[in-house]
Amino acid sequence: MKLSTKHLLGIKDLLKEDIELILSTAKEFKEVLQRPIKKVPSLRDKTIVNLFYENSTRTRISFELAEKRLSADTINFSASGSSVDKGETLLDTVNNILSMKVDMVVMRHASSGAPHFLAKHIPAVIINAGDGTNEHPTQALLDAFSMIEKFGTLKGLHVSIVGDIMHSRVALSNIYLLKKMGAHVTVVGPPTLIPKYLTEAFDVKVEYDIKKGLQNCDVANVLRIQLERQNQPLFSSLREYNLSYGISRKLLDSLNKEITIMHPGPMNRGVEIDSDIADGHQSIILNQVENGVAVRMAVLYLLTDQ
Ligand code: CP
Repeated sequence: MKLSTKHLLGIKDLLKEDIELILSTAKEFKEVLQRPIKKVPSLRDKTIVNLFYENSTRTRISFELAEKRLSADTINFSASGSSVDKGETLLDTVNNILSMKVDMVVMRHASSGAPHFLAKHIPAVIINAGDGTNEHPTQALLDAFSMIEKFGTLKGLHVSIVGDIMHSRVALSNIYLLKKMGAHVTVVGPPTLIPKYLTEAFDVKVEYDIKKGLQNCDVANVLRIQLERQNQPLFSSLREYNLSYGISRKLLDSLNKEITIMHPGPMNRGVEIDSDIADGHQSIILNQVENGVAVRMAVLYLLTDQ
């Protein structure tokens, strides 16, 4: 089976069948990753550049590991310390790299739409590793994989996405994916951090009260407050945010049932999530990170020779 798309620019462009294919392929690769020898030769004739114009820990390491597990040759590029500082454009940078015979580009960029721009102008396969406030498709795929691992299906699952929805590419990719797969989505946070168009555009529920927003959910996917993307203060203080929306033991114990806690990372401990919850028995945060490698192996494998 093949994906319906040549690139992975966003979940928006994927069919339900594409998502199912990626997740079932990831399941096979997760089995490979449990073996003593965790490597397969699938991409041994491919060269992949990881082009990161914005900071990353998990996504970057996860893609590099996935590429190595598939036996690809990899090159890592960071904008800081490169000729970008001398004024070189994105297109010039990528064309120079491509002239060294690169097959795929994994790209993170602070500008929404940067990977879409590249996909129009260069012949290589482009994988979006996070573009501005737009999408982070592999994060949504690994989140979905982790939820299916825990609950068996996404259909009918109640997922609350909590926090800085406005600036979150993770939120947008998760909403696209969860709605395509038949889950119920509630976004929870202060009115200043939830875009007004969400309810009509995506058929998601909006809840400004944290307890009501979590009361009937199966999973809370808790997001980081992205102060670096806020041009003006959107709430009075981090302390106030923690008191109103932070995920604490007291809040979780007040709910009708035990819910599962997810977070894409990096976490602001003591702001959107307390440490005992992040590290506690309801958290699957490190499972998400582990699953990221298998999911990215699946994406790289399926996009080869499209
Ligand atoms: N979840 C995520 O994208 O983390 P990084 O920014 O560390 O890659």
